Amino acid sequence: MRKNFLPFALPDLDETELNEIREVLESGWVTTGAKTKRFEEEFAAVVGARHAVAVNSCTAAMHLALDAVGLRRDDEVITTPYTFAATAEVIRYFDAKPVFVDVEPDYLTIDPALIEKAFTPKTKAVIPVHIAGLPAEMDGIREAARRRGVPVIEDAAHAFPAIYKGHMIGAISELTCFSFYATKTITTGEGGMICTEDDGLAERCRIMALHGISKDAWKRYTAEGSWYYEIIAPGYKYNMTDVAAAMGLAQLRKAQSMYARRKEIARRYGEAFARVSELQVPGDRADAQHAWHLYMLRLNLDRLSINRAQFVEELKKSGIGASVHFIPLHIHPYYRDAFGCRPEDLPVAYREYLREVSLPIFSKMSDDDVQSVIGAVAAIVAAHRR
Ligand SMILES: Cc1ncc(COP(=O)(O)O)c(C=O)c1O
Repeated sequence: MRKNFLPFALPDLDETELNEIREVLESGWVTTGAKTKRFEEEFAAVVGARHAVAVNSCTAAMHLALDAVGLRRDDEVITTPYTFAATAEVIRYFDAKPVFVDVEPDYLTIDPALIEKAFTPKTKAVIPVHIAGLPAEMDGIREAARRRGVPVIEDAAHAFPAIYKGHMIGAISELTCFSFYATKTITTGEGGMICTEDDGLAERCRIMALHGISKDAWKRYTAEGSWYYEIIAPGYKYNMTDVAAAMGLAQLRKAQSMYARRKEIARRYGEAFARVSELQVPGDRADAQHAWHLYMLRLNLDRLSINRAQFVEELKKSGIGASVHFIPLHIHPYYRDAFGCRPEDLPVAYREYLREVSLPIFSKMSDDDVQSVIGAVAAIVAAHRR
């Protein structure tokens, strides 16, 4: 039993973020400006994307991405139920329909073999989610989308820095959306990024992120700016502030070392749990780099006398914060009622959800923290073995 409670997630912040933020505060320019531009440039360079547009959340990023590909009322978007609310709610912003496709049991990412049957003439985009930071099977997804002439928008909220077959996530599809929420692999408190190779898509995202005002709206209060602007569409207020971008720049420079620490924690968990028959360790792909945003353990419930909720409760009693990712979207009341979804419609997502437990995995965890999680899991398994 730990003396203090180990939270499920904590950001890795120090003097480097403080120094960057201090610079912004002292400059007197606290909203979108030079720091945001630098953050965009540095992020684009790291993932190898032509454009990176910084916004105030991944939800905003995906809303803008769907706007940029021209989603309209009654259109359909193929996506996965095994994700957070944001992935599908942005589809509903347009009164369009999320078409849920089940996931691969080992990886919990959308199953490319099932995507083919989900296309209709109304399909306007495919949104795979790199759940936990593990890239989805992009070749199969992109090939299916390409055959139909439909763009792919990657929900990469968990997937920085992640690699699929030698390409960084962010440099593969028409549009890729990242999250810098407080618990994510790099954080700006709240924040997001849209990456694309396409000049037109980038321009549309930039314009719609700031009120639909044509070109460089943020510059209108600077010396080089002008009071004159034109509204070309009813846009949104999704711009990132320089305070957030300053934090992002500091986080970006630490991203590799934070990733290395999470990878090491995942390795240690794997070593401890891989041969425990009551547990299933997360799937990994040989041709990808997992960002290890989450460590999604699965319980072999037929070998345990407690259920998943009790397992989480036992961890809590041992002083360890755990979580569950995710309650599949199709079993939530809204999607159940609006689209008549039943749990068994997406049997893999539903079955795997019932036995998933996410363990803490963040770079500030000490070796003792990691060991205490391993010890607690082992003790719970030993006490409740069937
Ligand atoms: C898979 C997924 N997509 C999108 C989001 C939305 O990110 P944000 O909070 O930056 O809007 C999240 C947030 O947790 C997420 O887990």
